[in-house]
Amino acid sequence: TGNRTFTMIKPDAVENGHIGAILEKITAAGFKIVAMKYTQLSLRDAKAFYAVHSERPFFGELVEFMTRGPIVAAILEKDNAVEDFRALIGATNPAEAAEGTIRKLFATSIGENAVHGSDSDENAAIEGSFHFAGREVY
Ligand code: CMP
Repeated sequence: TGNRTFTMIKPDAVENGHIGAILEKITAAGFKIVAMKYTQLSLRDAKAFYAVHSERPFFGELVEFMTRGPIVAAILEKDNAVEDFRALIGATNPAEAAEGTIRKLFATSIGENAVHGSDSDENAAIEGSFHFAGREVY
């Protein structure tokens, strides 16, 4: 199993002032931050990043949401990173997320769900290199 995953703290969680609390949960769970930036996605960035969802009915809403304000993008390192991070953030729909998970604590809705976590080692590598050059990973 891979040792890296990619995450974003999404615009809703940034707007609601949760960057610090979310980073605290992430580091307390044993993830090491190996790359991080505060940035805002362009329309073009968001459409490319979420291309896999382009045929979904919520694609327009997703792109609009992800571009409406700044995000925190990061690459995280830990044994079994993808699976352990998905457990830490909880289900996509915060109404179904387990107690204590980041989405249960900080997400608003299925669309505005506070954080992203890669769903496979392959996607973690693709998503990490979408946002970071090699020299930005420490
Ligand atoms: P994430 O898993 O990070 O990446 C895909 C995103 O699409 C997901 O988070 C949600 O933010 C969004 N999404 C998934 N399902 C829905 C839905 N039914 N309605 C609106 N947004 C959704």
